[in-house]
Amino acid sequence: MTSKSATAKAHPNIAFIKYWGNSNSLLRIPANGSISMNLESLFTKTTVIFDDTLPSDEFYLNGVLQSQEDTQRITHFLNHIRNMANISSFASIHSENNFPTAAGIASSASAFAALALAASAALQIELNETALSRLARLGSGSACRSVPSGYVEWQTGSCDEDSFAFSIAPPEHWHLSDCIAVVSSKPKKVGSSEGHELAISSPLQNSRIADAPRRISICRQAILERDFDSLASIIEIDCLWMHAVMMTSIPQLFYWAPATLEIITEVQDWRLHGLPVCYTIDAGANVHVITESAYEKEVTFRLSQIPSVIHVISSQCGRGVELLSKIT
Ligand code: DP6
Repeated sequence: MTSKSATAKAHPNIAFIKYWGNSNSLLRIPANGSISMNLESLFTKTTVIFDDTLPSDEFYLNGVLQSQEDTQRITHFLNHIRNMANISSFASIHSENNFPTAAGIASSASAFAALALAASAALQIELNETALSRLARLGSGSACRSVPSGYVEWQTGSCDEDSFAFSIAPPEHWHLSDCIAVVSSKPKKVGSSEGHELAISSPLQNSRIADAPRRISICRQAILERDFDSLASIIEIDCLWMHAVMMTSIPQLFYWAPATLEIITEVQDWRLHGLPVCYTIDAGANVHVITESAYEKEVTFRLSQIPSVIHVISSQCGRGVELLSKIT
């Protein structure tokens, strides 16, 4: 028996400018570019063991063996890597998340970034950051943004070769935090992959996409200049554009809960009174409240005082994917 294994760790990311809709859903070439920040305190740690004796891939999440159906997406992804290495062995995959899975905290991003690095390293495939970002994108679009460090931009591209993410600033460039107000930790009813397919059914999607380069450039500039006011206004508008598209898709996708709107209202009021805070929301009801890290404790406290908030998870800006160990 031969077995080759490696362990990698990746952080999820929160998008400031959102990815919603694909121009090629098979290759996950996005309809528009996006910008995100990695979240240091949250992570997925994944060990991949390729083993000639396994009859199929097996996937354990937080110690629990997942169904064949839940393993399919991973098998499909690993097939790309098996093709690259010209092998057919199946793998045992052991993943641990230190945060609730599928609660609007993009777990697929950290999952596929960690899996891309662990699986390629186990098979001795040397990939530079760009190639690894492209590979992770095939598993989950937002995963390509969890590969580079800090503040990251995913350039749209037009094909597999030129659609990848790169760092626009390291984590220490700007001490920002994401305070996630968890109002629901239930898995979402319609997952992102299904949602991307519906985007084009909204009459608003084409306008959203046409204006995306402008939003990207304002957001990139705000990060480079550490301009919180400019960042706040562009990320809130971008989030509303995405949710407007979701809400006007056929069928409509409505992710907000009453608590979502309650938190938005509070955050806007806090900002009006001088606190550097703004909100963004992914495909879920939870609200990501972005602030300067000096105010992280204050914002966490204020959010935890809102009765509909179950708990608050906070994180500073984080690093890219890293290899923890390798045995071949
Ligand atoms: C709302 O990357 O989860 O979080 O490519 O199908 O895996 P798949 O979708 P995914 O979509 C993320 C959508 C989003 C916005 C974002 O992170 O940019």
